[in-house]
Amino acid sequence: MCCGVTCCGVMCCGVTCCGVMCCGVTCLSLVQANDAGDFFPLWGTCMGFQLLTVLVAGEDLLTNTTAENIAMPLNLTAEAQSSRMFESFPPDLLRSLTQEPLTGNFHHYGVTEKVFQENARLREFFSVLSTNVAEDGSVFVSTMEGRQYPFYGVQWHPEVNRFQWNPKYHFPHSVNAVSLSALLSDFFVNEGRKSSHHFANLEDENEALIYSYNPVYIANFTGYEQAYFF
Ligand SMILES: *[C@@H]1O[C@H](CO)[C@@H](O)[C@H](O)[C@H]1NC(C)=O
Ligand SMILES: *[C@@H]1O[C@H](CO)[C@@H](O)[C@H](O)[C@H]1NC(C)=O
Ligand SMILES: *[C@@H]1O[C@H](CO)[C@@H](O)[C@H](O)[C@H]1NC(C)=O
Repeated sequence: MCCGVTCCGVMCCGVTCCGVMCCGVTCLSLVQANDAGDFFPLWGTCMGFQLLTVLVAGEDLLTNTTAENIAMPLNLTAEAQSSRMFESFPPDLLRSLTQEPLTGNFHHYGVTEKVFQENARLREFFSVLSTNVAEDGSVFVSTMEGRQYPFYGVQWHPEVNRFQWNPKYHFPHSVNAVSLSALLSDFFVNEGRKSSHHFANLEDENEALIYSYNPVYIANFTGYEQAYFF
């Protein structure tokens, strides 16, 4: 957590990223940090993705792009081929990603491809790496990465492939789905390795470790398996 920030979404962790205000401040300060040569990656999942678009556009461009409890392949764009996010993917897995339902969608809102491309701020800040078709037929941006900044957004949920099991939901659990999730977390951790951030001392670091907290079983009343309370 000291070297990267995951923004809102289910991967939400740490104190910096749980409210819109707070996330806005974080996003702005991360732009400034990166401008100053301080490599500081940011990842937004689902609502985190949505928030990134609001912060970068400076306005709310979200519309109904409902894709609720559906697993889909990604329609990768030409830019995905030269992206950082998918750079280290084996070609077979990248192909599977476009053919098999490896990405779980649980959202009501998103940014359509048209709105995204018509907005100069979004278009100049992010490369669109994939799109998908919502239940109402609208085409929404499903994956994006910063052109200049190590900022990443997915409208879908890579974490469910490995960590959520409720059979009511379409969580992809195939070997390719699990690889996809693992490769993306490896990718983001590797981005974190480029950061020089560190704790001031070992005591602070130990205290911040997730191992200092006990997970609580919550699958009997939520779609999640475990939660940490800070
Ligand atoms: C990918 O794009 C094609 C053509 O626009 C569309 O028919 C198809 O439904 C899309 N697939 C997904 C998974 O969104
Ligand atoms: C959004 O679209 C979905 C699918 O077309 C529809 O079921 C839902 O009622 C819409 N919601 C709103 C708020 O318009
Ligand atoms: C869920 O399970 C936990 C642990 O067994 C238990 O303490 C809690 O009361 C349960 N909650 C509900 C809503 O059933």
